[in-house]
Amino acid sequence: MANFKKATSIGDWFDQRLGTKKIEKIMASEYWIPKNINFLWAMGMVLAITFKLLLISGIFLMMYYKPDVDLAFDSVNYTIMAEVGYGWLWRHIHAVAASVIFLIVYIHMFTAIYYGSYKQGREMIWISGMLLFVTFSAEAFSGYMLPWGQMSYWAGMVITNIFEGFSPEIAGGMLNAPGLVEWLRGDFVPGDAFLTRFYMLHVLLLPLAILGLIGLHFGALRIPHVNNQDGEDIDFEVESKKYLAGDTKGSKVMRFQFDFLSKDIFVLGVFLTFFFYLVFYHFTFALDPVNLDPANGLKTPAHIYPEWYFLWSYEVLRPFAKDPGLVAFMFAQVAFFLIPFLDRSPNVAPANKRGLFAIWFWVMLVDMIVLTIMGKLPPEGIFNVIGGVAVWTFLGLFIALPIITMLEKKK
Ligand code: HEM
Repeated sequence: MANFKKATSIGDWFDQRLGTKKIEKIMASEYWIPKNINFLWAMGMVLAITFKLLLISGIFLMMYYKPDVDLAFDSVNYTIMAEVGYGWLWRHIHAVAASVIFLIVYIHMFTAIYYGSYKQGREMIWISGMLLFVTFSAEAFSGYMLPWGQMSYWAGMVITNIFEGFSPEIAGGMLNAPGLVEWLRGDFVPGDAFLTRFYMLHVLLLPLAILGLIGLHFGALRIPHVNNQDGEDIDFEVESKKYLAGDTKGSKVMRFQFDFLSKDIFVLGVFLTFFFYLVFYHFTFALDPVNLDPANGLKTPAHIYPEWYFLWSYEVLRPFAKDPGLVAFMFAQVAFFLIPFLDRSPNVAPANKRGLFAIWFWVMLVDMIVLTIMGKLPPEGIFNVIGGVAVWTFLGLFIALPIITMLEKKK
């Protein structure tokens, strides 16, 4: 991997990596991939294809969906599901893809954490990835509003209520501008203006932002190349020359077309088999039964909870009273952005070769699963205790990260 100077700006960061000469060189040459990688390096491709499935199925759904509080519910649950030929299929594909893409995103993120793929020149890949994560979360949330069922309405109410903000006494009214919540909703409660603006965000602004961010993510990936299973610093020029001179076995790299691509396509085939199995036989897991009742502002559901992929951050909010809860929740949204800066060790190596960091990694993974389970259960009795411990562990892990990585010995 090339050694870059400390960048003085984002423009400088890209100039160093994607200077005109380098771009010409990349275009003129083939693209090389390390041999020492496993199926987890196919997750990026799986994500790109799942996003395409969302775009295509979304375009079909748009043809019959009506963004109007009086028509939205029926346009989804009767027109699309029962009247339009294969409308049900596009809806199942869209709902299952929206859920499964988060599972793959989490696997992709934790792979990068495990192998330290956010360090030494790869920071921008991580940051652009995190921006994708946040924008995807907004895309999923805005899409959830559109069927205008009970959960759409009440989740919309709860989340926009967050902007009521901190108590004026502690934060000088931060986020607490008078009328901010009403301004966001376009009304005192979620209604027609709310639904129409979330529709615009879901079908136009956020997909455009995601496409731009995918471009940034892929651009950041061109140089340096992807990491590998041992975090080895490979000289791609030497290794690709070795390969082209005929020593294909001895070389540490392989061609993108079609050596790497054939492996990627195999993993994609396995994924799509699982995906269409869910679409045809188990699509209900992605559609909450409470949302099969039309929105009713006079009837609050007994237990309001978000989709499974938001449960961990929702749980971080719950154990606290209003202000600290908001701080903890906001921290959870941005905490993962900080990983490349909190990890103070220069070692790019898999977690199992990094001493205490291995423990940190597995505790974090298990803790996020516990937070997710507790987020779904009612906040009472033993669930409150377990949830509380998991939240403090989550916050503590971010404080511990710089300390344990500073203690880590150099490779
Ligand atoms: C739609 C969303 C995304 C798409 C389409 C995408 C696509 C890709 C692709 C194609 C790769 C190269 C192959 C691979 O390592 O899988 C990659 C690598 C990477 N992505 Fe993503 N990604 C997405 C989201 C994210 C997120 C949410 C993160 C985490 C914050 C992230 C962080 C990374 C990192 C650190 C690498 C480098 C891996 C390495 O060097 O080994 N990506 N991504």
